[in-house]
Amino acid sequence: MDTKVIKSKFPIFKNKIKGKPLIYLDSANSSQKPKTVIDRISKFYSKEFSNIGRSVHSLAVTATNRFEETRDLLKNFINAKSTEEIIFTKNATEAINLVAATYGEKFINKGDEILITELEHHANYVPWHFVRQRKGAIIKFAECNDKGEVDIDKIKKLITNKTKIIAITHLSNVTGAIMPIKKIVDLASEKKIPVLVDGCQGAPHLKIDMQELGCDFYAISCHKMYGPTGVGVLYAKKKWLDVLPPYQGGGGMIEEVKKDNITFPGSPTKYEAGTLQTAEVVGFSESIRFIEGVGIKNIIQHEKEILEYGLEKIKKNNSIRIIGDPKNRGSIISFTIKGIHPHDIATILDEEGVAIRAGHHCCQILHEKMGIAASARASLGIYNSKEDIDVLSDAIKKCNKVFNN
Ligand SMILES: Cc1ncc(COP(=O)(O)O)c(C=O)c1O
Repeated sequence: MDTKVIKSKFPIFKNKIKGKPLIYLDSANSSQKPKTVIDRISKFYSKEFSNIGRSVHSLAVTATNRFEETRDLLKNFINAKSTEEIIFTKNATEAINLVAATYGEKFINKGDEILITELEHHANYVPWHFVRQRKGAIIKFAECNDKGEVDIDKIKKLITNKTKIIAITHLSNVTGAIMPIKKIVDLASEKKIPVLVDGCQGAPHLKIDMQELGCDFYAISCHKMYGPTGVGVLYAKKKWLDVLPPYQGGGGMIEEVKKDNITFPGSPTKYEAGTLQTAEVVGFSESIRFIEGVGIKNIIQHEKEILEYGLEKIKKNNSIRIIGDPKNRGSIISFTIKGIHPHDIATILDEEGVAIRAGHHCCQILHEKMGIAASARASLGIYNSKEDIDVLSDAIKKCNKVFNN
């Protein structure tokens, strides 16, 4: 893959950071946006904008059609059975909250168990904590090992006849561990337990096929998929959307409103209250086209190459501890350097134009398990090259010099 060509499609790379070329290694946090996505949003506002699903004038009809085109594209991209299974939210966090609130309200009672793992992002723990508080449920954590992965046996052992849902990450945003979702779904379906997958890191970097994975819910973060901020997606099997209550109430999600009763339409309308992030959803259609244009197989292959190159290079530096060493791993390298706080690492790297993230990455439980409060994280995207890793590696050496000399 020619990363120079890919980079040329992203206007941000024309900018210098502190006089240096931008080396963007923070895509797990949020990815950069190709020009086609930016232009699509601009065109929508310049030529096609209207609120959707309400008025009957030409602009409103066009805008509604454009919005629904994205739903259609996404349905095909993730191989959902129908567009009714695709709900637009403001981010993946809201998608998970939607499930926790509605499924929690209807199906989780005192003493019931919610099974998650120690790998989870706070977005896939805190919403379940609310259910624990409201309903008196119990949250069980499948332990991760020192390789930063969760053995499926750990999950199996925690399943009981009280388990009401398994909520699990597809790809850890700290250790990069890829979870065997299909096997977990097979295990869960023997006991008729639904599985929610936090697909924030899975969707931009793996092939995601809902029929193949078989999960009941899959949360997507569009801004990590070269798409606009303010858009998330909840995929949910229709059988759930038919029985779960609405999430937020207001305009756009009702069928009929009377003083003594309100009725609701089917999905996705029932779950999309208020004015939606119209331009961003329309812009997201170009992100899907961009990913499809490059090809998910090529993305996987390219990121694997860069990851392996990066791991090999970084492992040569004896002062570095890489957090986790999972067998099946995505393109994320979290690390610490002896004697240097991760925020200081990120600050020194920034001087070299290298953008990484430092902190607990919304995974305090996992960091605690690893015996640290924070880490530095370099995460890859389609635009990264081996040269980027070389700059990272040199910048890390500079950190060593500044702090450890
Ligand atoms: C694994 C994981 N889950 C959830 C989230 C939250 O995503 P969003 O910002 O779309 O709510 C993130 C974002 O960093 C993530 O990496």
